[in-house]
Formats: sequence, C-alpha cells, structure tokens
Amino acid sequence: MVDVYEAVKSRRAVRAFTDREVPREVLERVLSAAAWSPSGSNIQPWRIYVVTGAPLAELKKRAGERVAAVDPWDEREYEMYPADLKNPYRERRSAFGRERYSALGVAREDWEARQRAAAGNWQCFGAPAALFCYIDRDMGRPQWADLGMYLQTVMLLLRAEGLHSCPQMAWSVYRATVAEIVSPPDGLILFCGMSIGFEDTTGNYVRTGRAPLEETVTFVEGPVASSHAA
Ligand SMILES: Cc1cc2nc3c(=O)[nH]c(=O)nc-3n(C[C@H](O)[C@H](O)[C@H](O)COP(=O)(O)O)c2cc1C
Repeated sequence: MVDVYEAVKSRRAVRAFTDREVPREVLERVLSAAAWSPSGSNIQPWRIYVVTGAPLAELKKRAGERVAAVDPWDEREYEMYPADLKNPYRERRSAFGRERYSALGVAREDWEARQRAAAGNWQCFGAPAALFCYIDRDMGRPQWADLGMYLQTVMLLLRAEGLHSCPQMAWSVYRATVAEIVSPPDGLILFCGMSIGFEDTTGNYVRTGRAPLEETVTFVEGPVASSHAA
C-alpha cells in the first residue's frame, strides 16, 4: 500500500506514457474511492467521462487533424489565468515554462518546437486512458475548488495503482472535439482532461520545484495582541 506522503511526492505531471492498457477495473476502483472526496454540502459537482480504446483513438485522431490544420482554438469558457498575472505567480509561470522546454531541449524562441511539444497534450502524451472533468455552468468558485480536490484525490489513488497522470486544461480549447466523442448534456463546462497510464521512463524530465514554505504558509501562533477596539 502506498503511503499518502509517497503518493503526494511521487505524483507529478507525466508527459510520456507507454501504450500499456489501464484495466477498466482499476479505473473503477480509483473513481469509486475518489467519490469520497469532500465537497461543500456534499454536492459532488464533478461530472466525469472516462475515455479509452476506440473512442480515445478517435479523439486523438480528430485533435491531431485540428493541430495539423492549424485550426483555431475553441472559444474559452473560462480564463485559464488572470490576464494580468501578478508576481510571484508570473515569475513562477515563466520558471515553469523555462524548465519544461529546457528539459525537452527546446529553445525559448523556437516557437514551432514549443507548439509541437504542446500538441502532445491532444495525444494525451501517448496515454491509453483519459478522463474529462466537467462542471455545471451555473456552479460557483467553491464548486470549482471541489473539482480540484476530487481530481487530486484521483491522481493520488492512481499512484497507489502504479499509474501516473497529467491534468490538462489544454483540452478546454479543444472542447468541441471532446464533446463530439463524449456527448455531454447541455449546460456543462469542460474544466480539464487528465491523461492516465503507465509512465514511459525512457525520456528525461525535470522535477518542478516549489516555493519555500514561508512564501505560501503563515503560521499564526503565540500570544494574541489585546484588542483596543471598543
Ligand atoms: C488544473 C491543471 C491543469 C493543467 N493543465 C496542463 C496542461 O494542459 N498541460 C500540461 O502539460 N500540464 C498541465 N498541468 C500540469 C502542471 O503544469 C503541473 O502540475 C505543474 O507544473 C506542477 O508540476 P508537477 O505536477 O509535475 O508537480 C495542469 C495542472 C493542473 C493542476
């Protein structure tokens, strides 16, 4: 049994998978357990579609055709990042881009190579399974946060099964193609996809870093200053 710390630390966005199939019963076990994720008032706002086999092959084919045709992205249903991303977030985002592309040996100004690397998203980086996470259009920010908890739970459980994953907002700009395959009912927004499979360990990757604890966590402790209000 994988320890929770081990699951958390070994989870990372894997962008190279082998074609080894992911058994249906493993996915069912993971998704049944992930259903125990918390959500405000237990409304469980996640709507998940799992795609494997011929439908996934067809999705990759259609997405590949769009990439080849330089088809414009679908209109966004939500903004991935604030238009004016402030620091420290802007700097973290650039650092991530630098790390990701230097690991691939792609130069910053090599726009075509970067596009090719990004296009791997729409092939699920070779993974034989994917899930797509939707949410009702009228849900608010707290429910979107619930999705995050759910998806992280899924990714940690996948580690317990020896599987890896990559969450992908990139699918949101190919949402029409995803919809052709999964036929979601009206009123749902595609938040993200997630590639699932066994890691192809032949490539190289750079582990992303994290901000030091003091940058993101404040411990409030010690004596409380007396209030002079009143
Ligand atoms: C909601 C969400 C969407 C993401 N979308 C993408 C994506 O479209 N493509 C991709 O390659 N990585 C995507 N990622 C992976 C992040 O880049 C990655 O989690 C981050 O850089 C930290 O690295 P790590 O997950 O390897 O620790 C996404 C992550 C999250 C949480």
